[in-house]
Amino acid sequence: MSNERSLVETPLTDPIALLSARLAPWLSQRAGGGVVDPVVRPSDHADAQINGALPLAKQLGCNPRDLATEIVESGELADMCSSVEVAGPGFINVTFSNEVINELLSTAASDEHLGIRQASEAQTVVVDYSAPNVAKEMHVGHLRSTVIGDALVRMYTAAGHSVIRENHIGDWGRPFGMLIEHLLDLGEEVAASGLGQGDLDGFYKAANAKFNESEEFQDRSRQRVVLLQGGDAETHVLWNRLVAMSTEYFNTVYEQLGVLLIDDDLMGESKYQPLMPGTLERLEASGLMSESDGAKVVFPPGFSNRDGDPLPLIVQAKTGGFNYATSDLSCVIDRVERLSADLLLYVVGAPQQQHLEMVFAVAKMAGWLPEGVSAVHVAFGNVLGDDKKMLRSRSGESVKLVDLLNEAVERAAAAVEEKNPSLSGAERSAVAQMIGIGAVKYADLSTDRVRDYIFNWDRMLSFDGNTSPYLQYAHARIRSIFRRAAEEQVSVGDMFVEEPAERALALQLLAYPAAFADAIQSNAPHRLCTYLFELAQLFTSFYEHCPVMKSEGDVRASRLALCDLTARTLSDGLDLLGIEAPEQM
Ligand code: ARG
Repeated sequence: MSNERSLVETPLTDPIALLSARLAPWLSQRAGGGVVDPVVRPSDHADAQINGALPLAKQLGCNPRDLATEIVESGELADMCSSVEVAGPGFINVTFSNEVINELLSTAASDEHLGIRQASEAQTVVVDYSAPNVAKEMHVGHLRSTVIGDALVRMYTAAGHSVIRENHIGDWGRPFGMLIEHLLDLGEEVAASGLGQGDLDGFYKAANAKFNESEEFQDRSRQRVVLLQGGDAETHVLWNRLVAMSTEYFNTVYEQLGVLLIDDDLMGESKYQPLMPGTLERLEASGLMSESDGAKVVFPPGFSNRDGDPLPLIVQAKTGGFNYATSDLSCVIDRVERLSADLLLYVVGAPQQQHLEMVFAVAKMAGWLPEGVSAVHVAFGNVLGDDKKMLRSRSGESVKLVDLLNEAVERAAAAVEEKNPSLSGAERSAVAQMIGIGAVKYADLSTDRVRDYIFNWDRMLSFDGNTSPYLQYAHARIRSIFRRAAEEQVSVGDMFVEEPAERALALQLLAYPAAFADAIQSNAPHRLCTYLFELAQLFTSFYEHCPVMKSEGDVRASRLALCDLTARTLSDGLDLLGIEAPEQM
């Protein structure tokens, strides 16, 4: 499901993109017309490598090395490159001239977006994320959805799109009969002290136990479902209280996490209830609906069960009830027709892949996902404990997120105290908050989201390696250089690169918009993490090889400017991931 229009603009500061744009017209002319991709890529042997001569030579039936030589001799590369070399079967290795690098560095430094350009045609992107269930514990899967979804919201916004957050909470369905009856049995105050404090599991389990034990309770619960679905006013008030108590708890988690979700973003299953009969009518009218075992179903092609028989998407049960699929189909219609979405992102765990694929397939068949609108399942794997099994608390229960986040902050506070005992109490707790929460988020974001990852405190809080504390520390270290620079009254100047470590850092800084583009195009925040990690490493090596405050004059001013651009890029990148960068730590 590719999105036809490009999501990100070609960066202004990326020498690779610029070289590509420079070369394309010449290649197109050489090819006798048409678009030709010069295929310029980063390289281990040089600053970049042009690979486009090979496919073009094949197309034209000429020798690729000869064509590569022709490209070199065309003079098109001369003003950007200080050296160009044909290699192997017809690659061209290029070294960018230092003048070009210096100029691009100053463009990046003077741009508040550090070279990331706003989309010329903003798209409307709906991001469906977090989506916990009312009166059920938010598990680590919801943590993943919340953290990944929030990073994507920030990234799409930075790319200039108009982003709509939707928190598709599970707030409707059969269990609400028993939950409401249990609420009545307990009395609201008792229920509130449990649910609002986050004892969602206890509440749900107690209701469920009663349901299994007492026929009288079962009867009441069933009647209550009928009342709820029938729109009974008193039942709705009770249901609303239940939802409010749970969302109050979700909000404490969101606040602690520092994510963007607010109450206005709540768009739970209940919101789609009134739309479902219409959805069914439209399916009926389109002739897609059939009956199977008394249920109303649609058979999207390409889905089959274990026996190889066609698999139906059930949209209305035999009993007449609507289900998760009906609600998700109505939700697609709502997002496309009411919100005019161009792109629908579903940040939902991998186990729901088949459900979502079937929903998307049926929506396409029915014409609800027209040409130009894409729906994408942004899937993710599990969070595992050290034992490689699903993460559990010591007592074997599912982990309470608030406890987990509090522990992260406590551990970070201990680490900060050890590293920098001079920080005052208030500063220390602010920094600990940023480090602890940052560590949890970064651990989640930095592995390819489709893979499982192991939740390990020591690893995620380590100041070494691909972790948030490492990146935050690199940032804070640069900020401390500037505190000294201010005392000594020296300031930044024009950047010029000479030393290899300066050049390497500079090229990485200029690659920021390209890394961003790469991450957003595949909804892969981990690619941005990898980029930032490499940036911090290149900074460390620059800082080892190139004295900053101990150098003088223009060199010091230039190196300070490189430091500044590095700090800004680190903090901007972390911000896109929803992570704060402290001034000191
Ligand atoms: N509430 C669901 C769950 O906890 C996730 C909902 C995802 N969004 C959607 N449109 N189906 O599994």
